[in-house]
Amino acid sequence: MARIAHLSDIHFGAHDPKIVSATEAWLQQHQPDLIIISGDFTQRAREAQFREASAYLNRLRAAGFRTLVVPGNHDVPLYDVVRRFAAPLDRYKRYIDNDLCPWFENDEVAVLGINTARSLTIKDGRINHEQIEILQERFAVVAPNKTRILVTHHPLYAMPIGEGGELSEAVGRHRDAVKAVCKAGVHLALAGHFHRTYAESARKMVEHAGSTLVMQAGTTSTRLRNSEPQSFNWIHAARNDEIELQVVVWDGASFRRGNHERFSFKGDGWTAQEIEGEIAYA
Ligand SMILES: [Fe+2]
Repeated sequence: MARIAHLSDIHFGAHDPKIVSATEAWLQQHQPDLIIISGDFTQRAREAQFREASAYLNRLRAAGFRTLVVPGNHDVPLYDVVRRFAAPLDRYKRYIDNDLCPWFENDEVAVLGINTARSLTIKDGRINHEQIEILQERFAVVAPNKTRILVTHHPLYAMPIGEGGELSEAVGRHRDAVKAVCKAGVHLALAGHFHRTYAESARKMVEHAGSTLVMQAGTTSTRLRNSEPQSFNWIHAARNDEIELQVVVWDGASFRRGNHERFSFKGDGWTAQEIEGEIAYA
Protein backbone atom coordinates (compact mmCIF):
# COMPACT_ATOMS: atom_id res chain seq x y z
CA MET A 1 0.00 0.00 0.00
CA ALA A 2 1.43 3.32 -1.05
CA ARG A 3 -0.13 6.43 0.44
CA ILE A 4 0.39 9.46 -1.74
CA ALA A 5 -0.69 13.07 -1.25
CA HIS A 6 -1.03 14.79 -4.63
CA LEU A 7 -1.11 18.58 -4.51
CA SER A 8 -0.98 20.94 -7.46
CA ASP A 9 -1.05 24.57 -8.48
CA ILE A 10 -0.11 26.08 -5.13
CA HIS A 11 0.72 29.38 -6.90
CA PHE A 12 2.78 31.20 -4.26
CA GLY A 13 1.96 34.86 -4.88
CA ALA A 14 -1.72 33.94 -5.32
CA HIS A 15 -1.99 31.82 -2.23
CA ASP A 16 -3.70 32.10 1.11
CA PRO A 17 -1.10 31.51 3.86
CA LYS A 18 -3.79 30.02 6.08
CA ILE A 19 -4.56 27.32 3.48
CA VAL A 20 -0.87 26.65 2.84
CA SER A 21 -0.27 26.11 6.57
CA ALA A 22 -3.33 23.89 6.73
CA THR A 23 -1.86 21.64 4.00
CA GLU A 24 1.31 21.27 6.08
CA ALA A 25 -0.65 20.40 9.21
CA TRP A 26 -2.72 17.87 7.25
CA LEU A 27 0.41 16.25 5.78
CA GLN A 28 2.01 16.06 9.23
CA GLN A 29 -1.08 14.38 10.58
CA HIS A 30 -1.46 11.84 7.74
CA GLN A 31 2.23 11.10 7.01
CA PRO A 32 2.08 10.14 3.31
CA ASP A 33 4.81 7.92 1.86
CA LEU A 34 5.23 10.44 -0.93
CA ILE A 35 4.10 14.01 -1.59
CA ILE A 36 3.64 14.83 -5.27
CA ILE A 37 3.28 18.44 -6.41
CA SER A 38 2.42 18.71 -10.08
CA GLY A 39 3.58 22.21 -10.94
CA ASP A 40 2.62 25.87 -10.78
CA PHE A 41 4.51 26.52 -7.58
CA THR A 42 4.38 30.24 -8.29
CA GLN A 43 1.98 32.77 -9.75
CA ARG A 44 4.47 34.60 -11.99
CA ALA A 45 7.84 32.82 -11.54
CA ARG A 46 9.13 35.79 -9.49
CA GLU A 47 12.11 35.36 -7.21
CA ALA A 48 10.18 36.15 -4.03
CA GLN A 49 7.46 33.66 -5.00
CA PHE A 50 10.04 30.95 -5.63
CA ARG A 51 11.61 31.71 -2.26
CA GLU A 52 8.29 31.09 -0.53
CA ALA A 53 7.74 27.90 -2.52
CA SER A 54 11.24 26.74 -1.70
CA ALA A 55 10.72 27.39 2.01
CA TYR A 56 7.49 25.36 1.90
CA LEU A 57 9.24 22.41 0.21
CA ASN A 58 12.22 22.63 2.53
CA ARG A 59 9.94 22.48 5.55
CA LEU A 60 8.33 19.31 4.19
CA ARG A 61 11.67 17.74 3.32
CA ALA A 62 13.13 18.69 6.70
CA ALA A 63 10.15 16.97 8.33
CA GLY A 64 11.28 13.77 6.61
CA PHE A 65 8.80 13.66 3.72
CA ARG A 66 9.77 12.32 0.32
CA THR A 67 8.66 14.68 -2.44
CA LEU A 68 8.38 14.42 -6.22
CA VAL A 69 7.74 17.63 -8.11
CA VAL A 70 7.45 18.92 -11.69
CA PRO A 71 7.23 22.52 -12.98
CA GLY A 72 4.11 24.15 -14.38
CA ASN A 73 3.65 26.86 -17.01
CA HIS A 74 3.46 29.52 -14.27
CA ASP A 75 6.98 28.56 -13.16
CA VAL A 76 8.31 29.89 -16.49
CA PRO A 77 8.64 33.73 -16.47
CA LEU A 78 5.91 35.32 -18.58
CA TYR A 79 6.90 39.00 -18.85
CA ASP A 80 10.65 38.69 -18.47
CA VAL A 81 11.11 37.70 -22.12
CA VAL A 82 14.89 37.33 -21.98
CA ARG A 83 14.70 34.95 -19.05
CA ARG A 84 11.69 33.19 -20.51
CA PHE A 85 13.61 32.07 -23.59
CA ALA A 86 17.22 32.00 -22.36
CA ALA A 87 16.71 30.28 -19.05
CA PRO A 88 13.02 29.45 -18.63
CA LEU A 89 13.41 27.03 -15.74
CA ASP A 90 16.48 28.59 -14.16
CA ARG A 91 14.71 29.72 -11.01
CA TYR A 92 12.69 26.52 -10.78
CA LYS A 93 15.92 24.50 -10.87
CA ARG A 94 17.59 26.77 -8.33
CA TYR A 95 14.75 27.00 -5.82
CA ILE A 96 12.63 23.90 -6.34
CA ASP A 97 14.42 21.00 -8.01
CA ASN A 98 17.32 20.65 -10.40
CA ASP A 99 15.94 17.39 -11.72
CA LEU A 100 13.33 17.78 -14.47
CA CYS A 101 12.79 14.01 -14.73
CA PRO A 102 12.34 13.05 -11.07
CA TRP A 103 11.96 9.41 -10.12
CA PHE A 104 10.69 7.74 -6.95
CA GLU A 105 10.57 4.02 -6.40
CA ASN A 106 9.79 1.82 -3.42
CA ASP A 107 8.50 -1.76 -3.08
CA GLU A 108 5.07 -0.76 -4.28
CA VAL A 109 5.22 2.14 -6.70
CA ALA A 110 7.45 3.61 -9.39
CA VAL A 111 6.79 7.29 -10.07
CA LEU A 112 8.19 9.37 -12.93
CA GLY A 113 7.79 13.14 -13.33
CA ILE A 114 8.00 14.77 -16.75
CA ASN A 115 8.29 18.50 -17.41
CA THR A 116 5.61 19.78 -19.80
CA ALA A 117 6.18 23.54 -19.28
CA ARG A 118 7.62 25.35 -22.29
CA SER A 119 8.75 28.90 -23.14
CA LEU A 120 7.03 29.17 -26.48
CA THR A 121 3.55 28.19 -25.50
CA ILE A 122 2.53 30.24 -22.51
CA LYS A 123 -0.37 28.17 -21.36
CA ASP A 124 -0.25 24.88 -23.21
CA GLY A 125 2.24 22.20 -22.39
CA ARG A 126 4.23 19.91 -24.57
CA ILE A 127 6.02 16.62 -24.31
CA ASN A 128 9.00 15.84 -26.56
CA HIS A 129 10.37 12.67 -28.12
CA GLU A 130 13.26 12.44 -25.69
CA GLN A 131 10.82 12.52 -22.77
CA ILE A 132 8.70 9.84 -24.44
CA GLU A 133 11.81 7.66 -24.67
CA ILE A 134 12.67 8.28 -21.01
CA LEU A 135 9.13 7.34 -20.07
CA GLN A 136 9.40 4.01 -21.87
CA GLU A 137 12.93 3.22 -20.69
CA ARG A 138 12.32 3.99 -17.02
CA PHE A 139 9.11 2.01 -16.69
CA ALA A 140 10.38 -0.93 -18.80
CA VAL A 141 12.62 -2.17 -15.98
CA VAL A 142 10.09 -1.82 -13.17
CA ALA A 143 8.81 -5.04 -11.57
CA PRO A 144 5.34 -5.84 -13.00
CA ASN A 145 3.57 -5.90 -9.62
CA LYS A 146 4.41 -2.26 -8.85
CA THR A 147 2.03 0.59 -9.60
CA ARG A 148 3.53 2.74 -12.35
CA ILE A 149 2.66 6.41 -11.94
CA LEU A 150 3.34 9.29 -14.31
CA VAL A 151 3.24 12.91 -13.15
CA THR A 152 2.92 15.92 -15.46
CA HIS A 153 1.62 19.45 -14.96
CA HIS A 154 -0.51 19.49 -18.13
CA PRO A 155 -2.88 16.56 -18.48
CA LEU A 156 -2.09 14.17 -21.33
CA TYR A 157 -5.77 13.61 -21.92
CA ALA A 158 -8.64 15.86 -22.91
CA MET A 159 -11.39 15.67 -20.32
CA PRO A 160 -14.80 17.25 -19.76
CA ILE A 161 -13.86 19.83 -17.14
CA GLY A 162 -14.51 23.07 -19.05
CA GLU A 163 -17.06 25.58 -17.71
CA GLY A 164 -19.91 23.97 -19.63
CA GLY A 165 -18.50 20.48 -19.43
CA GLU A 166 -16.64 20.88 -22.74
CA LEU A 167 -13.36 19.04 -23.30
CA SER A 168 -10.18 20.61 -21.98
CA GLU A 169 -7.00 21.08 -24.00
CA ALA A 170 -4.57 18.13 -23.83
CA VAL A 171 -0.80 18.45 -23.79
CA GLY A 172 0.97 19.07 -27.14
CA ARG A 173 1.90 15.88 -29.01
CA HIS A 174 -0.55 14.10 -26.75
CA ARG A 175 -1.28 11.29 -29.20
CA ASP A 176 2.37 10.14 -29.08
CA ALA A 177 2.44 10.65 -25.33
CA VAL A 178 -0.73 8.66 -24.77
CA LYS A 179 0.61 5.86 -26.97
CA ALA A 180 3.83 5.78 -24.94
CA VAL A 181 1.93 5.81 -21.65
CA CYS A 182 -0.15 2.89 -22.89
CA LYS A 183 2.94 0.96 -24.03
CA ALA A 184 4.79 1.65 -20.78
CA GLY A 185 1.86 0.20 -18.84
CA VAL A 186 1.28 3.31 -16.74
CA HIS A 187 -1.46 2.62 -14.19
CA LEU A 188 -1.97 6.14 -12.93
CA ALA A 189 -1.50 9.48 -14.72
CA LEU A 190 -1.50 12.45 -12.35
CA ALA A 191 -1.69 16.08 -13.44
CA GLY A 192 -3.05 19.50 -12.48
CA HIS A 193 -3.20 22.78 -14.45
CA PHE A 194 -6.99 23.14 -14.66
CA HIS A 195 -7.61 23.64 -10.95
CA ARG A 196 -10.36 21.04 -11.11
CA THR A 197 -10.48 17.59 -9.57
CA TYR A 198 -11.35 14.75 -11.87
CA ALA A 199 -10.76 11.01 -12.02
CA GLU A 200 -11.68 8.64 -14.80
CA SER A 201 -10.52 5.61 -16.74
CA ALA A 202 -8.39 6.78 -19.70
CA ARG A 203 -10.40 4.37 -21.87
CA LYS A 204 -13.32 6.78 -21.65
CA MET A 205 -11.10 9.53 -23.15
CA VAL A 206 -8.97 7.86 -25.82
CA GLU A 207 -9.32 4.72 -27.86
CA HIS A 208 -6.04 3.03 -26.95
CA ALA A 209 -5.47 3.78 -23.33
CA GLY A 210 -4.12 0.54 -21.88
CA SER A 211 -4.69 0.32 -18.16
CA THR A 212 -4.29 3.97 -17.22
CA LEU A 213 -6.42 5.73 -14.64
CA VAL A 214 -6.37 9.52 -14.92
CA MET A 215 -6.48 11.69 -11.79
CA GLN A 216 -6.48 15.47 -11.73
CA ALA A 217 -5.70 17.46 -8.59
CA GLY A 218 -7.37 20.78 -7.88
CA THR A 219 -5.55 23.86 -6.61
CA THR A 220 -4.72 25.04 -3.11
CA SER A 221 -4.34 28.63 -4.40
CA THR A 222 -6.89 31.44 -4.57
CA ARG A 223 -7.25 30.99 -8.36
CA LEU A 224 -10.46 28.98 -8.27
CA ARG A 225 -12.30 27.75 -11.36
CA ASN A 226 -16.00 26.98 -11.68
CA SER A 227 -16.36 27.87 -7.97
CA GLU A 228 -14.66 24.61 -7.06
CA PRO A 229 -13.05 25.05 -3.63
CA GLN A 230 -9.38 24.44 -2.86
CA SER A 231 -8.45 20.78 -2.69
CA PHE A 232 -5.80 18.14 -3.11
CA ASN A 233 -5.87 14.38 -3.60
CA TRP A 234 -5.19 11.63 -1.08
CA ILE A 235 -4.37 8.50 -3.02
CA HIS A 236 -3.94 4.97 -1.74
CA ALA A 237 -2.52 2.51 -4.25
CA ALA A 238 -3.38 -0.85 -2.69
CA ARG A 239 -2.30 -2.70 -5.85
CA ASN A 240 -1.84 -1.63 -9.42
CA ASP A 241 -5.44 -2.66 -10.13
CA GLU A 242 -6.98 -1.13 -7.03
CA ILE A 243 -6.53 2.52 -6.21
CA GLU A 244 -8.50 4.75 -3.85
CA LEU A 245 -8.91 8.46 -4.17
CA GLN A 246 -10.17 10.75 -1.47
CA VAL A 247 -10.43 14.39 -2.43
CA VAL A 248 -9.46 16.58 0.53
CA VAL A 249 -11.44 19.81 0.34
CA TRP A 250 -11.06 23.23 1.98
CA ASP A 251 -14.33 24.26 3.61
CA GLY A 252 -13.28 27.84 4.37
CA ALA A 253 -11.76 26.99 7.74
CA SER A 254 -10.13 23.57 7.45
CA PHE A 255 -9.53 20.62 5.17
CA ARG A 256 -12.24 17.98 5.31
CA ARG A 257 -12.91 14.69 3.56
CA GLY A 258 -14.50 15.11 0.15
CA ASN A 259 -15.46 12.70 -2.60
CA HIS A 260 -14.06 9.23 -1.98
CA GLU A 261 -13.92 6.52 -4.62
CA ARG A 262 -12.32 3.13 -5.04
CA PHE A 263 -11.15 2.36 -8.59
CA SER A 264 -10.74 -1.24 -9.73
CA PHE A 265 -9.29 -2.39 -13.02
CA LYS A 266 -11.19 -5.33 -14.46
CA GLY A 267 -9.51 -5.80 -17.85
CA ASP A 268 -11.82 -3.50 -19.77
CA GLY A 269 -11.06 -0.30 -17.90
CA TRP A 270 -11.34 1.17 -14.43
CA THR A 271 -14.64 1.21 -12.63
CA ALA A 272 -15.37 3.46 -9.68
CA GLN A 273 -17.24 2.66 -6.52
CA GLU A 274 -18.16 5.43 -4.14
CA ILE A 275 -17.13 4.97 -0.54
CA GLU A 276 -18.61 6.61 2.51
CA GLY A 277 -16.43 8.00 5.24
CA GLU A 278 -12.70 7.96 5.85
CA ILE A 279 -10.32 6.28 3.44
CA ALA A 280 -10.14 2.59 4.39
CA TYR A 281 -6.40 2.51 4.98
CA ALA A 282 -5.88 5.90 6.62
FE1 LIG B 1 -2.20 26.68 -12.22
